[in-house]
Amino acid sequence: MESSALKNLLGQLFSRPPRAFVRTYGCQGNLSDSERIKGILAAAGFDFCTCTEEADLIIMNTCAIREHAQERVFGNIGALKPLKEQRREMKIAVCGCMPQQGGVGEKIQRRFPFVDLVFGTHALPQLPQMLFEIYSGTKHLRRVEDEEGTISENLPIKRDSSFKAWLPISYGCDNFCSYCVVPYVRGRERSRAFDVVVKEARELAAQGYKDITLLGQNVNSYRDGNKNFPKLVKEIDSIEGDFRIRFMTSHPKDCSEELLRTMAQCRKAARHLHLPVQSGNDEILSAMNRKYTRSQYLETVNLAKSLMPDLTITSDIIVGFPGESEAQFRDTLDLVRQVEYGSLFTFIYSPRDGTAAAALPDPVSRQEKVARLQELCSLQESIALRRISRYQGKVLRVLAEEVREFLPDGQALISARMESNGVVEFAGDEGFVGQFLDVEITDTNRLILKGKFCECHGRKITGIEGVTA
Ligand code: 5AD
Ligand code: SF4
Repeated sequence: MESSALKNLLGQLFSRPPRAFVRTYGCQGNLSDSERIKGILAAAGFDFCTCTEEADLIIMNTCAIREHAQERVFGNIGALKPLKEQRREMKIAVCGCMPQQGGVGEKIQRRFPFVDLVFGTHALPQLPQMLFEIYSGTKHLRRVEDEEGTISENLPIKRDSSFKAWLPISYGCDNFCSYCVVPYVRGRERSRAFDVVVKEARELAAQGYKDITLLGQNVNSYRDGNKNFPKLVKEIDSIEGDFRIRFMTSHPKDCSEELLRTMAQCRKAARHLHLPVQSGNDEILSAMNRKYTRSQYLETVNLAKSLMPDLTITSDIIVGFPGESEAQFRDTLDLVRQVEYGSLFTFIYSPRDGTAAAALPDPVSRQEKVARLQELCSLQESIALRRISRYQGKVLRVLAEEVREFLPDGQALISARMESNGVVEFAGDEGFVGQFLDVEITDTNRLILKGKFCECHGRKITGIEGVTA
């Protein structure tokens, strides 16, 4: 359905543009989907607001990756009840990965009968039609489809940022890691056409985007005919413009020598690689169905470091996978010491319905798992602090992302992203946001670095993270 029919209907119902509030949970894939949801809403005539109280339509785009994420969403949907009781004409929709799981859409409708619309990840392109139906009086609409193999191109998009862009290159996942719900809620892996992705990247560069992140659940297994992921990175690198290329999430089994060599050759590819290891123990990796061993992972890391000495590697780690012993956990700590990650996302294993690991016996106590997580986090913090101390006194090229606060002298405290994906804060002008700048690092005692803006553009950039020689 065209959004014009919805627009006409809304025009009859509202004397001013209706206001939408879109809340996003979870990963970059969801952030990117929400930009498409907002694109569809904008095309139908919606304005946007930043709080639920002002909204005529609330859309909650949900995440199902862990129990904790899901419980948070349930709590936040429940909290909307009084608002809906005050303003019955307000519409509430819940979408994304939670409704896409068997039975969860029904559960949302049973538990929260005030929710007007529930739809799964594959139904997003039908949003105009679904909104038309609920604004025409349909109650408790639910649309969750099994369609897994298609990609909807040409959906409108309203990007959250004018300088950082998500560029989805593939959807879904075929890996079926034994703990993970993603293959069940995001469907089979499918890649967008090479030329379509390159065209979108070209448009982003022309619009002045400075940081383009190629997205896929398994980004580096991208393939369109004989064009694989390294070819795509190379092609985007050749586009004119001053921008960085990032990509996530890479699966270690698909992190080929060709990809690492391509990264090393591509001037615009950020010297950052997010390469989730999940565990440092071979038995656990096998039980997780990760399809690589500890030594294969370390080989990839060593090759990456030798090709790009200034590379920062980050990772995801799950502690307390069913049956993980203390000794197996020690293998993970040992691997973390060897790789020297820039940062880690750490999780306690969370059983997900329908996944293979959910059926495994899990004798280790929650308390023990929490203790393991804490030990891992404090090890990582000491590694990260040691790593970043090498930046002391160096000049780095950073992308100013936001104003954190205004300082007593009227200057803005700017938060900026380094090529490694690390964050540095410095005093400057609020107009810096969205620009690449040179910043001298003055304090490396905290994970968020402190720096000083310096006007040294045009100098030769070499070495660590574009350290000025
Ligand atoms: N329990 C805990 N962590 C999980 N992840 C995915 N599924 C689970 C789960 N069931 C983590 C993995 C993945 C990241 C996005 O979330 O580390 O890389
Ligand atoms: Fe989940 Fe594994 Fe696919 Fe990542 S690669 S989305 S962890 S199944």
